[in-house]
Amino acid sequence: MEVTNVTEYEAIAKQKLPKMAFDYYASGAEDQWTLQENRNAFSRILFRPRILIDVSKIDMATTVLGFKISMPIMIAPTAFQKMAHPEGEYATARAASAAGTIMTLSSWATSSVEEVASTGPGIRFFQLYVYKDRNVVAQLVRRAERAGFKAIALTVDTPRLGRREADIKNRFNLPPYLTLKNFEGLNLGSMDKADDSGLASYVAGQIDRTLSWQDVKWLQAITKLPILVKGVLTAEDTRIAVQSGAAGIIVSNHGARQLDYVPATISALEEVVKAAQGRIPVFLDGGVRRGTDVFKALALGASGIFIGRPVVYALAAEGETGVRKVLQMLRDEFELPMALSGCRSLKEITRDHIATDWDAPR
Ligand code: FNR
Repeated sequence: MEVTNVTEYEAIAKQKLPKMAFDYYASGAEDQWTLQENRNAFSRILFRPRILIDVSKIDMATTVLGFKISMPIMIAPTAFQKMAHPEGEYATARAASAAGTIMTLSSWATSSVEEVASTGPGIRFFQLYVYKDRNVVAQLVRRAERAGFKAIALTVDTPRLGRREADIKNRFNLPPYLTLKNFEGLNLGSMDKADDSGLASYVAGQIDRTLSWQDVKWLQAITKLPILVKGVLTAEDTRIAVQSGAAGIIVSNHGARQLDYVPATISALEEVVKAAQGRIPVFLDGGVRRGTDVFKALALGASGIFIGRPVVYALAAEGETGVRKVLQMLRDEFELPMALSGCRSLKEITRDHIATDWDAPR
């Protein structure tokens, strides 16, 4: 059966993958309220299309941190991609590059920064988890820089791992033939067996819970790469991020895998955009599955979006071909609401092209 939208890859992945792997990819935290809300909140935002505008030419190219990309749709960091497909992060990197967009590589990738760089040219960001051992972090950042990565996405929502109950039940652990490749030489490449989620134990042992805004300064001192703060959900933190010299913000709730009952990212976006006052770009991830979702995020002020699960599901289903198809389908889908609401370029997408349930009556 032909796959006609991004969501359909989830069912295929579920059939193909061992339960432990699929559950790890799919899970949200605890009641998974935020997981559902990440999708539901998009469905409460409606269009206010403008008509009779010449839309024979549509341009969705954009610039992110000075890098020109073909569309405002990018790839979020997701860990352990070789658990989905033997080519894992290699396939994702090639697909992103072919689509002319940005891939973010996870700290917990099953391919190293050097290996991903070896796949060929492409604009890539590196997602950073800060370990207790700061020498490890400094080394890793330097390696990412040398491998040509263009920005650091500093994940700030994970001083501890959220409770993902499927992973606890499954005693989630990496298959024995895989390692956290970036940490292999540092004796931090494998997760120990645990009597709950092996990943939760690994995080408790290695990740630095003391991480604070001062460490954003520390990071700036050890790298020239621009820093995106990933995991902001409030105006308060947006203002601090701007003051701290962040190059951008990613409004993210970690795909609803950390704190349950935080709002959907699309609901938090506008607050963050207003607080950023145009000083730094604001991006969003979480629940983006349709071109219309991309449009809604841009109408609320996002400079671009990232997708997480669709990539791992497509990898599981069809490897690089699947990821290419996901990017192409979202691109094609996004072009349509642009045309059908009278927007020929990204800058023509405005707040007036949508109506939310928190809008005052017109
Ligand atoms: C993630 N996410 C994530 N984030 C991060 O900063 N480092 C990481 O290693 C991972 N790993 C990871 C694994 C899996 C399986 C998922 C689903 C998510 C979060 C990710 O970057 C992003 O915030 C969400 O995935 C976006 O939501 P959607 O698109 O999955 O709904």
